[in-house]
Amino acid sequence: MHVTAIVLAAGEGTRMKSGHAKVSHQVLGKPMVRWVVDAARAAGCDRVVTVVGSHADEVRALLEGISGVECVEQTERLGTGHAVKVALEAAGIAEGPVVVLNGDLPLIEADTVRTFAESVEGGKAACAILAVDLPDPTGYGRVVTNEAGELVRVVEQKDCTPEEAAITICNAGCYAFDGAALAAHIGELSAENAQGEYYLTDMPEILARAGMATTVFTCKDWREALGVNSRAQLAELTALARDRINARHMAAGVTIMDPASTWIGPEVAIGRDTVILPSCMLMGATTVGEECTVGPFTRLTNVTCGNRVVMDETIGEDVTIDDDVTCGPRCYLRGGAHLMQGSKVGTHVEIKKSTVGRGSKVPHLSYMGDATIGEGVNIGGGSITCNYNGREKNKTVIGDRTFIGSDTMMVAPVTIGSDVVTGASSCITRDVPDGALAIERSQQAIIEGYTARKHAQNTKE
Ligand code: UD1
Ligand code: CA
Repeated sequence: MHVTAIVLAAGEGTRMKSGHAKVSHQVLGKPMVRWVVDAARAAGCDRVVTVVGSHADEVRALLEGISGVECVEQTERLGTGHAVKVALEAAGIAEGPVVVLNGDLPLIEADTVRTFAESVEGGKAACAILAVDLPDPTGYGRVVTNEAGELVRVVEQKDCTPEEAAITICNAGCYAFDGAALAAHIGELSAENAQGEYYLTDMPEILARAGMATTVFTCKDWREALGVNSRAQLAELTALARDRINARHMAAGVTIMDPASTWIGPEVAIGRDTVILPSCMLMGATTVGEECTVGPFTRLTNVTCGNRVVMDETIGEDVTIDDDVTCGPRCYLRGGAHLMQGSKVGTHVEIKKSTVGRGSKVPHLSYMGDATIGEGVNIGGGSITCNYNGREKNKTVIGDRTFIGSDTMMVAPVTIGSDVVTGASSCITRDVPDGALAIERSQQAIIEGYTARKHAQNTKE
């Protein structure tokens, strides 16, 4: 079955009061339109035609590089029906099942889209609409059915009679059409309604009048069918997405101590027996292995992490952490950091674009930037790589088993060999050969009897 999807993402999103396209707003770190497009792709739609218009370039950029996805532009926003007409014409769609999805419907599931597309396959019906019984139908189009439960029409809230407004069965904004029937009749839409727009929601009635079968398909879970028109709805829906994702991880063997304060993005993978403590955000393409302890207060974005890792109050972005690593409390791991097996990055430590070798430790108050640290190294508290001279970043290399004394400044570029010891408080500006002691420190003076003399002097005065 070749299914085409049309995603409607050209609207202004006026109710968001935003300088950005509505569909670019994120739900758990992922733009709304990407949720919808990904659901269509996962449902097996081989072609996803996205209608862009308001902030077109911004939306186009969000979809760049996704296979099977193309954008068409609706230059005037004349309504959802007009948007579909533009898509059919620009993409030359005239047959096969066509699924139309509102771009502000992020929680729609691939399974729903798939079964739904099947309902119009092979001309079984000319049109199916996804309906949902909502606790609060405000703002949604109402689905009017006859005594036999057959679809009569969809009425927008603004065009409802009081009787129609009392209906709680709503149009979710997800439709399946027989492409040939849709293309043949879309020109019959009119804009004679309260909003003066071409409503896609008039299509079922038009097709029924032409003697074709139209059906209503009810959504099992009302949450899937929620649209986002305002910031309040965005927050509400984000919390629902969080609950759904957390439930999935818990069912797969992850302990989440406080699901309400745990925000996990849709693409995150977590291994079994990992424990997530309160107040954590795991976003982007983050992968956490088994038997890890994450949090409390940990934020990870695009982090790849092995097994048995502890991340206590850790912030990590674009980093790789191997097995048995301990991080935090309170460390900041930035782009390109690689913590190798069994290493430790402790409290108030920042690591940027640096490798910390197997079993090495950076326990307290240090900054390691553009550094390669070998195995079994100990970096004393307060030590820093001086990697930036105001113009460029320079590298620091530290060999295996080296002991960097506390408060060592390593002025890059500099290479410190293996089995080296640096004296506490040394400023290392020259390379150090293997096995050497490097010490840079002014002589300590001892003034004997100083305190007593000072005291005697003060009492005389
Ligand atoms: C729409 C439906 C309503 C349904 C609700 C579900 C219509 C007329 N109404 O209402 O029955 O209950 O969704 O959430 O379809 N768009 C375009 N071009 C346009 C206008 C809109 O691409 O000219 C896009 C928007 O970006 C949005 C989607 O279509 O993603 C729906 O538009 P929106 O204005 O949000 O429609 P609703 O009023 O929510
Ligand atoms: Ca909407």
